[in-house]
Amino acid sequence: METKIFQTTDEDIKEAAAILRNGGLVAFPTETVYGLGANALDEEAVGKVYAAKGRPSDNPMIVHIARASDIGQLTPMLSATIVTLIENFWPGPLTLVVKRKPIVPDVTTGGLDTVAVRMPDNAAALKLIEEAGCPLAGPSANLSGSPSPTKAQHVIDDLSGRIDGIISGGDCRVGIESTVLDVTGDVPTILRPGIITAENIEAAIGRKVEYDKSLFVRPDAKPQDSSLDAGFGEDFRPRSPGMKYKHYAPKAQMTVIEGQRDKVKSEIERLKGLNEKLGNNVGVILFEEKAFIEAAHDFFADLREMDKQGVDLILAGALSDVDGVGFAVMNRMLKSAGYNIVRV
Ligand code: TXA
Ligand code: MG
Repeated sequence: METKIFQTTDEDIKEAAAILRNGGLVAFPTETVYGLGANALDEEAVGKVYAAKGRPSDNPMIVHIARASDIGQLTPMLSATIVTLIENFWPGPLTLVVKRKPIVPDVTTGGLDTVAVRMPDNAAALKLIEEAGCPLAGPSANLSGSPSPTKAQHVIDDLSGRIDGIISGGDCRVGIESTVLDVTGDVPTILRPGIITAENIEAAIGRKVEYDKSLFVRPDAKPQDSSLDAGFGEDFRPRSPGMKYKHYAPKAQMTVIEGQRDKVKSEIERLKGLNEKLGNNVGVILFEEKAFIEAAHDFFADLREMDKQGVDLILAGALSDVDGVGFAVMNRMLKSAGYNIVRV
């Protein structure tokens, strides 16, 4: 299949929208990462998304809408909390998991009775959804398991020949995916951290939010391990199905070095020297202290850049933030490294 590259002109967006209306797949820019669009209410179109990405079919999709009020088509009930969240954060990088209406097909929600909804903060994305005239399923537009795409070129590298079109909309402002917040229960729960933090959400709704337990669980650990390292036991089911899959992995081996800043720096230098002596090509990811927003913006792009340069081993310095934007980046960093961590 030939993949057509579109620009963000009105004419191109109209043409791309027509493809979506006819059940095709078009990748589009958002403020977080590029998404792979398909009509979210068309089972066949959504099925093609799983195939193009090589994505497990029980991993549900986020449904993207162009007007906040369109959430009413997808869910039967909006609580005061949900309305406050929408007023404060949409359009923007906050995805809300809500009860679904039957109009949303099983294939979109992975068979769950909930649906994840968001209104992206990107003019081309909003225009595309509007023109398509239907909500768009939009998982990140990468091959399943590889780093999320933050530039059009990343989408071309992964999905060229597998989808109908790509809207080339420049660099994504945020760089990591949206915060996913489950608002179906008594306590709003963060299933995936992002740049909208627990603190931001609490300030808006005046209530505590929780993190899903799976965010503190290392999937490779044995069940007998203690506390944070306790593993996903046999019956452990994360509330966000995507959490259990291998994610964001660069082609290179990757190790995260965690600890006090100076020690992290010198351990990275030491490991780099050792590995270079053995003939390995070593890449280092070490963000400025407390530059969490910048780290979010650069992280996935850095992984892809290092793969392009043929790096064999990536050494990454852990960030110190425990529940803000740095925590969201650490969630991706640990997964990228397959929880391969050195503590100094
Ligand atoms: O920023 C983003 O959210 C990007 C852009 C393109 O909008 N999209 C994105 O989609 O990251 P995806 O499919 O790569 O990640 C969606 C995450 C997965 O972890 C999935 O398991 C979770 O959201 N999810 C989707 N529907 C859910 C539901 N009903 N309940 C719980 N988790 C859900
Ligand atoms: Mg993804």
